[in-house]
Amino acid sequence: MKKIFVTGGSGFIGSAFIRLALDELPEYEIINFDALTYAGNPDNLNDVEDSRYSFIYGDIVDRDKVYKSLTEEVEIIINFAAESHVDRSIQSADKFVQTNILGTQVLLDAARHFGVKRFVQISTDEVMGSLPEDKTAFFTENSPYAPNSPYAASKAGAEHLVRAAHETFGLDTIITRCGNNYGPRQFPEKLIPLLIANALNDEPIPVYGDGRNVRDWIFVEDHCRAILAAMKQGKSGGIYNIGARNEQHNIDIVESILDALGKSRSLIQFVEDRLGHDRRYAIDSIKVETELNWKPLESWQTGLEKTINWYLKNQIWINRIRSGEYRNLPNQLSVIDLMLEEISPTFNLN
Ligand SMILES: NC(=O)c1ccc[n+]([C@@H]2O[C@H](COP(=O)([O-])OP(=O)(O)OC[C@H]3O[C@@H](n4cnc5c(N)ncnc54)[C@H](O)[C@@H]3O)[C@@H](O)[C@H]2O)c1
Repeated sequence: MKKIFVTGGSGFIGSAFIRLALDELPEYEIINFDALTYAGNPDNLNDVEDSRYSFIYGDIVDRDKVYKSLTEEVEIIINFAAESHVDRSIQSADKFVQTNILGTQVLLDAARHFGVKRFVQISTDEVMGSLPEDKTAFFTENSPYAPNSPYAASKAGAEHLVRAAHETFGLDTIITRCGNNYGPRQFPEKLIPLLIANALNDEPIPVYGDGRNVRDWIFVEDHCRAILAAMKQGKSGGIYNIGARNEQHNIDIVESILDALGKSRSLIQFVEDRLGHDRRYAIDSIKVETELNWKPLESWQTGLEKTINWYLKNQIWINRIRSGEYRNLPNQLSVIDLMLEEISPTFNLN
């Protein structure tokens, strides 16, 4: 059977993608290759019983493990694996450079070695920097690179390597760049799950600066459908910006979720702004809409309602992260390797 090698599939977006791919691509087996860092959560896929799904515990920086895990049957590699939290990259960029840049190069080399037909790199609008607040400018596929955080810089570096593999070696590559995702199973260090988790416990909700930063939000399943479309129909070497035309101020999101949960806005606590905090992201998604015939299925209202309901119904999922229990892994995994990792989840934005 043909195989898709998904890296970082135990994280937020990767796990949503694997669920979608198992439904939509009956002709493929899906291999999830994940290092289960603090952001990788086995709970995210523990209800998947499809025999076409398998898991390999491995680090994309580990060339031997990557090469041992790939076979000629792998047609497509989709690279979700990344260190993804901007605040952590400001504290220390080392892991971001290793995983996001070096890890991507290892996968590109492996793709060529095994004759993989298509390599899909999951990237971010943050590689293009920040936009003015006046809503006249949008990120297009031709916007210049201008990453402002170590995270964004590492993702831009990865994009350059993907482009170089296409130009130099003719590897069939696709780059997708998305804005802020929201939805079920997002690690509760990111804005929306953090605020739901804190609000449910009547804990303060930290909001950076004046709360007027603008992000372009997309429901995670809409993002995954766009990735699937780009994977299937995208032009080799192409870049696809994915957005739902949904700009929101951080403070408006916080207030509307507190209202929906029936919690007091007095929980909001403005904290010192993030260093180098980008003011506005907004994506022009005309290319995916026209070339790939994609459009989001969820509006901000329906997507947010689904998201809030999921966290309300799955408080055990959040509690297992808060207690650290989600790291109690199935026996077959090397617990010793995992104990060597020092990172533990944090629950505030500082
Ligand atoms: N979350 C967003 O809003 C957003 C927006 C645009 C782009 N992206 C990109 O989408 C991808 C997925 O984001 P996410 O929010 O699901 O991230 P996440 O942090 O929830 O998950 C990352 C996953 O990658 C795994 N991983 C990390 N380092 C690894 C390594 N060295 N080897 C193997 N696996 C490793 C983790 O264990 C985890 O399962 C990332 O590349 C990110 O840059 C995310």
